[in-house]
Amino acid sequence: MSHEVTTHPVPEAFASQANLTPEKYREMYSASIDDPEAFWGEHGKRIKWMTPYTKVKDVSWNRDDLHVRWFSDGTLNVTESCLDRHLETRADKPAIIWEGDDPEDSHTLTYRQMYHAVCRFSNVLKEMGVKKGDRVTIYMPMIVEAAMAMLACARIGAVHSVVFGGFSPEALAGRITDCESKFVITADEGVRGGRIVPLKVNCDKACDLANGMVEKVLVVRRTGNDVDMKAGRDLWLHEIGADVADTCPPEPMNAEDPLFILYTSGSTGKPKGVLHTCGGYLVWASMTHEYVFDLKEDDVFWCSADVGWVTGHTYIVYGPLANGATSVMFEGVPTYPSASRFWEACDKHGVTIFYTAPTAIRALMREGDEPVKSTDRSSLRLLGTVGEPINPEAWEWYFKVVGEERCPIVDTWWQTETGGTMIVPLPGTSEMKPGAGSHPFFGVQPKLVDAEGHELRGATEGNLIITDSWPGQMRTVYGDHQRFIETYFSAYPGNYFTGDGCRRDEDGFYWITGRVDDVINVSGHRMGTAEVESALVSHDAVAEAAVVGYPHDIKGQGIYAYVTTVAEVEPSDELKSELVRHVRSEIGPIASPDLIQFSSGLPKTRSGKIMRRILRKIAEDSFDNLGDTSTLAEPEVVEQLIEGRQNRK
Ligand code: WT7
Repeated sequence: MSHEVTTHPVPEAFASQANLTPEKYREMYSASIDDPEAFWGEHGKRIKWMTPYTKVKDVSWNRDDLHVRWFSDGTLNVTESCLDRHLETRADKPAIIWEGDDPEDSHTLTYRQMYHAVCRFSNVLKEMGVKKGDRVTIYMPMIVEAAMAMLACARIGAVHSVVFGGFSPEALAGRITDCESKFVITADEGVRGGRIVPLKVNCDKACDLANGMVEKVLVVRRTGNDVDMKAGRDLWLHEIGADVADTCPPEPMNAEDPLFILYTSGSTGKPKGVLHTCGGYLVWASMTHEYVFDLKEDDVFWCSADVGWVTGHTYIVYGPLANGATSVMFEGVPTYPSASRFWEACDKHGVTIFYTAPTAIRALMREGDEPVKSTDRSSLRLLGTVGEPINPEAWEWYFKVVGEERCPIVDTWWQTETGGTMIVPLPGTSEMKPGAGSHPFFGVQPKLVDAEGHELRGATEGNLIITDSWPGQMRTVYGDHQRFIETYFSAYPGNYFTGDGCRRDEDGFYWITGRVDDVINVSGHRMGTAEVESALVSHDAVAEAAVVGYPHDIKGQGIYAYVTTVAEVEPSDELKSELVRHVRSEIGPIASPDLIQFSSGLPKTRSGKIMRRILRKIAEDSFDNLGDTSTLAEPEVVEQLIEGRQNRK
């Protein structure tokens, strides 16, 4: 296999103004590894503390005593860093520029306005009975009230759990009950790509499914269309927010008090509630935001993610606001009303840094250069990507057509669990290799290992582990510390296992190759194959199902489902559509199978284990070399599967 790539030097105009140089990076990186206590002791001060910490790092990755604590005797409220402290020097600076789904619709909130809005929102939550430590589920469209709701929770010490607005009522209910959330914040409806998303209707269904768990629902008016309001439970924000005070004292929190829970898919079971705490997370969010994006005071920073994902938490809300930056929040989709939308909005708001996902780049690349070239984009100086490996073709297009070879590209590798960027070509510090995650951020110690845990040195490929803690690391799986230990610290004891494969080249650049577990990455969103399987088998017609990923031109990976029907049911195209609808209603549209193959059986070992390796090969349409099939219970099943394969090239 050849890994020939064209490398690009850092564009000169960029390099001359970059915050970092190659030397500075090396110096800071060494300092962060040689003496983490001193390094983080210093950089922890970048956020505002109520009581300064004296302890910096208190971590054990030993399975019997696993704990992760940073700055653990400090107290703070993260909203003081994100809002109050900017009032002195940045009160009139835009904090959030909101760009609506309709290109005619946008507005700006200054730091002063945002501060008062969050204070009012905090007082509303208090009136609803939300107390410190309570979990509050946020199921919202991309409107500024979503960011306000998060910050209002943080201000009063409540723990937010944002659930992406594209998830189904079933998925929402599961997340509400898992963290025993008595409060939900939602909107009447969302608007995306000109279409209405019935959030309140979904929320009502979820509340029913959650069996009396939800006591109060706060509803934000977005479209103004009629929705049912349940007396005694549902409240309009504009009604109860009408006469609350516009200041609210920030609740003092310990650095290790929970800030938020965010559910993410794993290789087994139901989604895990990833828990992040106040101090370390905010230090990591703000520090990575500043260095990864070469942040300057006048930047207009646009991260196109949804706040329902960790990218939105860290790089729309917490990182930018902690840094006093201007953050763009976009309600719509990249292709509405046209494929020029991103670039037109960049021109409209003078965006200088733009951060999106490879799947969006590929979808836009397919529309050709014209929708890009018809826009100006001269404000842009840095581009970023996140969520999945970016193929060199998409990288080159982004670099040449969108950024006109003027803007470096930061390809940021990280995870919900890591809180912020971990591996990245920090802008200005090294030449760029399209598709390479490149180098570790300060304090990050990556290692490549084989299946047995032996370290692989030099230019090689293996499983990616991290050998020591960093401040933004998740602290536990909410309500299930044992699962935290099993998931991340049992494959390679004493180390954090990422679940990703990775290659290191001759020059020491890291290249993430994708998940090595049963997690697939669909349009930059993580989906557990087990979750889709259990949604499928919950349908009466399905006896058994196995789900794998396969290469997909736009989505990165598509979802390929092998389905065995129960004896009474004949496979049919109608049943396929019915199963797609069923999965959408169980999980959400992002889990829709792209291809379904009916099969009379699945390849299993004699002990009954499904041989997924074979299923992946067939789904990829590359079945010439299926590897060792000698342990198959019924080898003829494989022939039938190849015969009926759905992804023929
Ligand atoms: C998984 C984490 C990080 C926020 C968005 C996704 C994959 C993420 C990259 C990248 C190659 C990437 C990994 C990782 N991934 N960024 N730049 N290059 N792969 O967060 O949902 O927690 O998913 O996304 O496989 O493990 P997530």
